[in-house]
Amino acid sequence: MKKIIVTVCIIITTFTAFADEGIWLPVLQKYTIEDMQKKGFKLTSQDIYDINNSSLKDAIVQFDGGCTGVVVSENGLLFTNHHCGYPQIQEHSSVEHNYLDEGFWAESYNDELPNPKLTVKFLYRMEDVTTQILQGIDDNMPETVRDSLVKTRSLKIAKEAEDNGKFDAAVKPIYYGNQYILYVYEVYKDVRLVGTPPDNIGKFGGDTDNWMWPRHTGDFSVFRIYANKENKPAEHSDSNIPYKPKQYIKVSLDGYEENDFTFIYGFPGRTQEYLPSYAVDMLLKHNPHKIKLRTQRLNIINADMANDISVRIKYASKQANIANAWKKWQGEYLGLQRLDAVNKKTEFEKHFAEWVAKDNHRSVYKNLLADFKQIYDELDTYSLINDYFNEAIKAPEIIKLASSIDNIFDKKQTKKDNDEALKQLQTTINNFFKNYNLATDKKIFAEVIQTYYSNISNEYHPDIFKKFYTENNGNFTEMANKIYSETNLLNQTWVDNFLNDIDLKSGEFNNDIAVVFYKSFSDFHEKNILPKLQELNKTLNIKQRLYMRALLEMNKEKVLYPDANSTLRIAYGKVEGFSPVDGTIYKHYTTIDGIMEKSRKDDIADYKIPSQLAKLYETKDFGKYTNNKGELPVAFLASNHTTGGNSGSPVLNASGELIGLNFDRCWESTMSDVMFDPDYCRNISVDIRYVLFIIDKFSGAKRLIDELGINK
Ligand code: ARG
Ligand code: GLU
Repeated sequence: MKKIIVTVCIIITTFTAFADEGIWLPVLQKYTIEDMQKKGFKLTSQDIYDINNSSLKDAIVQFDGGCTGVVVSENGLLFTNHHCGYPQIQEHSSVEHNYLDEGFWAESYNDELPNPKLTVKFLYRMEDVTTQILQGIDDNMPETVRDSLVKTRSLKIAKEAEDNGKFDAAVKPIYYGNQYILYVYEVYKDVRLVGTPPDNIGKFGGDTDNWMWPRHTGDFSVFRIYANKENKPAEHSDSNIPYKPKQYIKVSLDGYEENDFTFIYGFPGRTQEYLPSYAVDMLLKHNPHKIKLRTQRLNIINADMANDISVRIKYASKQANIANAWKKWQGEYLGLQRLDAVNKKTEFEKHFAEWVAKDNHRSVYKNLLADFKQIYDELDTYSLINDYFNEAIKAPEIIKLASSIDNIFDKKQTKKDNDEALKQLQTTINNFFKNYNLATDKKIFAEVIQTYYSNISNEYHPDIFKKFYTENNGNFTEMANKIYSETNLLNQTWVDNFLNDIDLKSGEFNNDIAVVFYKSFSDFHEKNILPKLQELNKTLNIKQRLYMRALLEMNKEKVLYPDANSTLRIAYGKVEGFSPVDGTIYKHYTTIDGIMEKSRKDDIADYKIPSQLAKLYETKDFGKYTNNKGELPVAFLASNHTTGGNSGSPVLNASGELIGLNFDRCWESTMSDVMFDPDYCRNISVDIRYVLFIIDKFSGAKRLIDELGINK
């Protein structure tokens, strides 16, 4: 009897979608919508997704490929996070127009700033195409044949759906290729910056607070989608007009109470909830290496940024990127350990093996766990070297540049691809010189390359690297000095000339000292690491697909949500706090009082606030943006299952109105990408009332307040 209880508990903690776990397809199964409604949701599944009528999905966009945004007015006004619009904000900033420090608000449509590379994507429709894709494919078919069949069929289906360029379409696997979904998108290419608060609001708390609660960040920025006269996507043009959405989401000033139902609609990037224990074990082993390499880089960058305003502007966006994953990995590591994730998975796997043994039909699954073990044992070394290749070798910007340029010589490309690649390379190079600081980069080189040398065993040191080592007497600063003083890649004129005559000058490029250094690793990698890595990953795919199929079969009576894959999803939960450690309870919201408290710690630069904000606080000039206690709310916690990519996602109340913008998770929650824990997993959102307060009271951008209909 006891044993049965134990196994039942394990299945529940490991795989059942219960409590608020789950990243659901918007075409909601009966089970999900009923559960949502039971928990307080007042709308229907057609309100969320409908192909014949407009629905909430028509107000959600994937922003710039990696974030989410929400349309909030009939004139295509778009809210997303400050950190999502950051590359654009930084791009428009200079020492003279320092929008990072001062913020920016366009006073009219004409002042809204175009962003040539920025796009937003609306999901037009989605469709299960599994039958077409998998027709005639079975377990006995060689993987290469399966692969190429799936590829050709996917391309064909997508091409038809694109309807001669009207849409963008793609077929994507879910459940590791046990099911396939066609996604059809409308992609808008003229998206302009309307406004942003300054860094000390939009990024308030910076890296000190990133991934943490209590939080006080006004992490939002405002854009507008433009369309041609027919309201269709068009390249940027002065004759474009504000986009008229099929549906926009109404901003609500009503707020929330603790335990209120809430849901999130957005584009979560990637989760891996169905990994075997061996995979999690490897992740835990490799994480500390990646963390250490980034710590080294960040120590150097942070010091240089603190010493020089021009370095601060140049490295603001790059630094934020490096620091973000760095901190998340640390939280994830601690969370998986606290959850005892490997042992939980191992326990589950015992139960899985019993389940397999119970029925002869399940014998295809019999060797799965042993296979996983063998593959991960072998993968261990290769995957670690791959991490070092990305996090150490390609960390110095000069080496990264060598690698970007080197990619252009890939002979497999067609002429058209090549032109496109060249154009992109030109942008990469321009950005490189605009945002480069030699001294910083050189220090990074010396540090991380030394770490590579010490932590990766000799047999994986390319010969040329060994030669560099001896020639510079084992001194990595000397090595850096030599490479950085002799390379041509730091000479913009040389690089521009080279780009104009790429084939003729390829010899000169290949002899460049930085390129020689890079290529010694990339050649070694391509020859000795990549093939093995690819082979192992291929086998892993097959096994993981089979494992997923088994899990689906094992959990037939429930609905398992598919891992996030950068497509539109729903997550739902409650507004609620949690207890991160014994003796501590996190309240579900913060207020401007907390901003003032933090700002008094004047040794922390991340907590500096604009004097205008302090003034508004002193006079309690909060307008209509207070809660029913008269406080100005800033951020709140909820138990929605989210991940990277959900940034900028609307957080909606039971009636589908906007109460906040998701921008983060708690540190104690970040392991939810691998294992969800309802007691610890909370997403962090900026309260929409704080967003409006900043737009209205702090920035005086009244025209937007009118546009949002707040005054009505
Ligand atoms: N952690 C959030 C996310 O993953 C916010 C990152 C931006 N903020 C920062 N301080 N780097 O994207
Ligand atoms: N800040 C993340 C993003 O950019 C969201 C936080 C998370 O990973 O949940 O998508």
